[in-house]
Amino acid sequence: MHESRVPSPESRPFRLAVLASGRGSNLQALLDAAPTRGFAIVGVFSDHADAPALARARVAGVPAVARNPKAFATREAFDTALFDAIDVGMPDLVVCAGYLRILSDAAVLRHAGRIVNIHPSLLPKYPGLRTHARAIAAGDTEHGASVHYVIPALDAGPLIAQARLPILPGDTPATLAERLLPREHRLLVEAVTWIAAGRLLQHGSAVLLDSRPLRTPLRLGADDRLIEPAETPSP
Ligand code: GAR
Repeated sequence: MHESRVPSPESRPFRLAVLASGRGSNLQALLDAAPTRGFAIVGVFSDHADAPALARARVAGVPAVARNPKAFATREAFDTALFDAIDVGMPDLVVCAGYLRILSDAAVLRHAGRIVNIHPSLLPKYPGLRTHARAIAAGDTEHGASVHYVIPALDAGPLIAQARLPILPGDTPATLAERLLPREHRLLVEAVTWIAAGRLLQHGSAVLLDSRPLRTPLRLGADDRLIEPAETPSP
């Protein structure tokens, strides 16, 4: 059973390491929010040296590090090198924000309870790739994004929070992704803010909110704040 580290009460801001493979718009949302949200980004890490996310980090004065997976014999060796670099910054939380490589079990277990991921679907629906196209093809009327704690199984860890939006007639994967992206940014910033404030913890397969099990993921409201779903009254 793993429980994430509780932030210390001293004034040191809660430290984030961010993993990003490409564009980095979710990273940018975290960079923009950090000064007012009680966290600091201490490093950005990528599996692509030319990822725009690394350029965004450098503009913000944040150390940016790339490691080339092709230079390592195995996924485990790559992840060991990547996470050794990450751990130099002593992060309280590792945020996968558009990181498109599967993490090895060893890397996840080494940081159990201290890694979160944002995924563009209403998990447990559509783990993996092409989530927008799959939601449209299935005839879904609703789509969204999820923030969850990372466990060794892909896109399967305990759910923290979700943002939902309707799928409109005529939506294409591109239009749906474009409408979802700003909601993703707010969802991720809110979820990380609550974690940094010490309100959320992973406890095994559960999420604790203010020390109580969270039975349904938090929801991003129309005002961009997280809402705790009402408890279903017991019969
Ligand atoms: C985001 O839509 C994120 O949810 C998705 O990649 C995009 C990255 O955009 N992540 C995954 O699909 C992970 N399975 P960004 O680089 O602009 O933040």
